[in-house]
Amino acid sequence: MNTLADKTPLTSLDEWEDDLLERYPDPETIAKGKTTEEYRNYDNPGRDTVREFYRLNHTYQTYDFVQQKRKDFLAFDKKEMPIWDAFTFLNQLVDDSDPDTDLDQLQHLLQTSEAIRADGHPDWFVLVGLLHDMGKVLCLFGEPQWAVVGDTFPVGCAHSDKIVYPEFFKENPDTYDSRYNTKYGVYSPNCGLRNVDMSWGHDEYVYNMVKDHLPEPALYMLRYHSFYPQHRENAYDHLMDEHDHEMFKWVQLFNPYDLYSKNPTPPDWNELRPYYENLVAKYLPATLKF
Ligand SMILES: [Fe+2]
Ligand SMILES: [Fe+2]
Repeated sequence: MNTLADKTPLTSLDEWEDDLLERYPDPETIAKGKTTEEYRNYDNPGRDTVREFYRLNHTYQTYDFVQQKRKDFLAFDKKEMPIWDAFTFLNQLVDDSDPDTDLDQLQHLLQTSEAIRADGHPDWFVLVGLLHDMGKVLCLFGEPQWAVVGDTFPVGCAHSDKIVYPEFFKENPDTYDSRYNTKYGVYSPNCGLRNVDMSWGHDEYVYNMVKDHLPEPALYMLRYHSFYPQHRENAYDHLMDEHDHEMFKWVQLFNPYDLYSKNPTPPDWNELRPYYENLVAKYLPATLKF
């Protein structure tokens, strides 16, 4: 399963986000009179690659795979660098062969954080905007796209049919493993998400990277921002406890900033840099471990 095509079914990581926009179009765009049909009516050569991406994701994200990745990457023994170097590193993800990708990774982060800041939210929330996709550096450590991005979901229990392309779980060995294929699997009713292992990707990775430094709502937003099966579909209420539900109000508040903050005018990094340098220095250590 280690061919290049298996590693990179998407032409660029942004294709996953473009697909999210088709599934969850901007309510404001709709309100402005564009029909959902019109919204979807743009040239989308990404359709098949996104399908193939989810086929791989749903096939290989097993309970055991997640344990392996946690062991490997949550040791944080790969690299140590200031967050600013990490942005430069992250920007290597831009795929020049994709004509649609004129926004690089740092710009997406800045547009998200600037939109949060413009709405007057607390500074740690702004920092969430800046950091939330930092975990995509996993790609630069050679991880396949399907183990970095994509909607996340619990592993170790039955896959909800509300997860996008649920039919691909028929290729996942956990579907036939009696330890993992019942409603609760290895978990107990309403055990709380802190006790649940999610499919592996950039959310869990960045959460662990900064978990000692930010307030709890910020950590929930980082950790579950790709958990669309719950924050959009409520498919896993049976694993959540009261506290999770309280905290998911933040996850839901964050989501539109992530999806709908794309702005044709790119933020001016040089102008913004002093503000963000102060913000990062306030909450985070001088270097982060990857
Ligand atoms: Fe993300
Ligand atoms: Fe994002």
